[in-house]
Amino acid sequence: MNSSLSFDVLIVGSGAAGLTLGLSLPEHLRVAIISKDQLDAGSTRWAQGGVAAVLDQEDSVEAHVQDTLIAGAGLCHEPAVRFTVEQSTQAIQWLIDLGVPFTQEGEKFHLTREGGHSARRIIHAADATGLAISDTLLNCVKTRANITLLHNYIAIDLITREKLGLNGQGCVGAYFLNNDSGYVDVITARATVLATGGASKAYLYTSNPDGASGDGIAMAFRAGCRVANMEFNQFHPTCLYHPQAKSFLITEAVRGEGGRLLLPDGEPFMHRFDARGELAPRDIVARAIDHEMKRLGADCLFLNISHKPAEFIKEHFPTIYERCAELGIDITSQPIPVVPAAHYTCGGVVTDICGRTDIPHLYAIGETASTGLHGANRLASNSLLECFVFARSAATHIAANMDLEADIPTAPVWDDSQVKDSDEDVVISHNWDELRRFMWDYVGIVRTTKRLLRAKHRVHLLRQEIQEFYRNYHVSNDLLELRNLVDVADVIIRSALLRKESRGLHYSRDYPDALPRAFDTVLTPKYLKELGEL
Ligand code: FAD
Ligand code: SIN
Repeated sequence: MNSSLSFDVLIVGSGAAGLTLGLSLPEHLRVAIISKDQLDAGSTRWAQGGVAAVLDQEDSVEAHVQDTLIAGAGLCHEPAVRFTVEQSTQAIQWLIDLGVPFTQEGEKFHLTREGGHSARRIIHAADATGLAISDTLLNCVKTRANITLLHNYIAIDLITREKLGLNGQGCVGAYFLNNDSGYVDVITARATVLATGGASKAYLYTSNPDGASGDGIAMAFRAGCRVANMEFNQFHPTCLYHPQAKSFLITEAVRGEGGRLLLPDGEPFMHRFDARGELAPRDIVARAIDHEMKRLGADCLFLNISHKPAEFIKEHFPTIYERCAELGIDITSQPIPVVPAAHYTCGGVVTDICGRTDIPHLYAIGETASTGLHGANRLASNSLLECFVFARSAATHIAANMDLEADIPTAPVWDDSQVKDSDEDVVISHNWDELRRFMWDYVGIVRTTKRLLRAKHRVHLLRQEIQEFYRNYHVSNDLLELRNLVDVADVIIRSALLRKESRGLHYSRDYPDALPRAFDTVLTPKYLKELGEL
């Protein structure tokens, strides 16, 4: 039976952002943290390299700020960058106090280096930092009596006062498909937080786990929030290329510790593209690899760390060593076959420094949000940092502004009396494949206006088909994710078409230069309706 639940704070997402927020809220608040899959299902658990922060006496806030601004190619919002970096030391101390087992070197924490960083400033737990963080945060959350954890619940759409016909504006919760019961439940709350991760599943090849379908971004957009800079999807330069390895990343820290990128004949090439070589920012390295693969007609290029002592490799990169060994690649003596893959959504739901969106009582944090930190290209390992800093900041704002006397509005139960069971699920899986393939081919690392227009046309047709499906059949997990992916793909393509320049991660052959002034691409449903596009 469809049922109703109510909390003070509803957090959609149990990755680094959602869990940090839950743990940072006062314990008198009744909190729900919800995941559409297992509680550790998002990207967080797969993070390898680490968290960037100012932790070394030789390093400085200013240096980290400047590296972030340079990687962001003129589009970062400097106040957001400064805020994040200034909070970085405290955020890491909070994780250390919770017990995250970061790698030590003697008495100190070992700091590694990644592309675009002028100093060693990445704190990590060997090459499985995300797993260590996710396990620690989840264990802590499970001890909190005020937090209810729900998994296998997928949020469908936000509920606003406007939708309920109530006075005023604001978010009052969301509808969720309970994948265990098959029913749709309504969950209302005084504050709702989207911590649903990114949208890299829009692309055929990605480092992200299943589920990175941009649900929070699509839901917030449909509810009327501004969504910014969605054309800046980051492609990680080095994912393992192997028929049996799906989405396995080779951390940038391998290059940070001396790994060299090689052509199939063993020749290094990065110095031809950028004086920083292998440690240039990610957009430059991914584009260089893409260029060389296309020039040579190669299926992959190679990353070699085998000149380092075997013990060093096994100690610093145990996960990668083992995964590659399982596939017959000994990284202590052989180069690793690599290709670029969609990795991170730099844009997202526009928020302020407290995670507030355009809709009162609705917050967005983590990869779902566009805080201004990343600009046109995220600096390596700044993502987890953003999750911790903005989740803590949102928690402070939510706690300080919560009116526990106010009634939480009730919302009607989900009405599915007019829909039936689908007898053609093949349409959904076919459309999934089609979308991800044309996004890869037409909206990938190198773009042209012609390709983008082709993608826009295809996404328009898919959208009509999916909307019809959504209106007529019972919702399912795959249908909901596809509906969100189609909406997000549409926003990515429109944003890319609006940007008549090349900047950071957005490279257009038709506009190869950057404009003198950087501007954000900001879309709202209202704006698209005015253009007659929705
Ligand atoms: P996620 O961790 O992705 O969590 C999203 C949560 O939302 C999940 O619980 C999911 O189930 C839930 N959810 C989504 N949609 C719904 C819905 N509709 N209903 C209910 N629940 C929903 N960044 C770094 O800074 N350093 C690194 O070393 C690093 N390495 C990476 C390696 C890999 C392989 C990947 C994929 C990413 C890496 N990143 C790294 C990026 C970073 O891990 C992510 O940006 C970050 O973990 C995102 O955290 P999050 O809490 O925003 O979302
Ligand atoms: C990596 O370890 O290379 C990923 C780091 C990141 O995405 O920031």
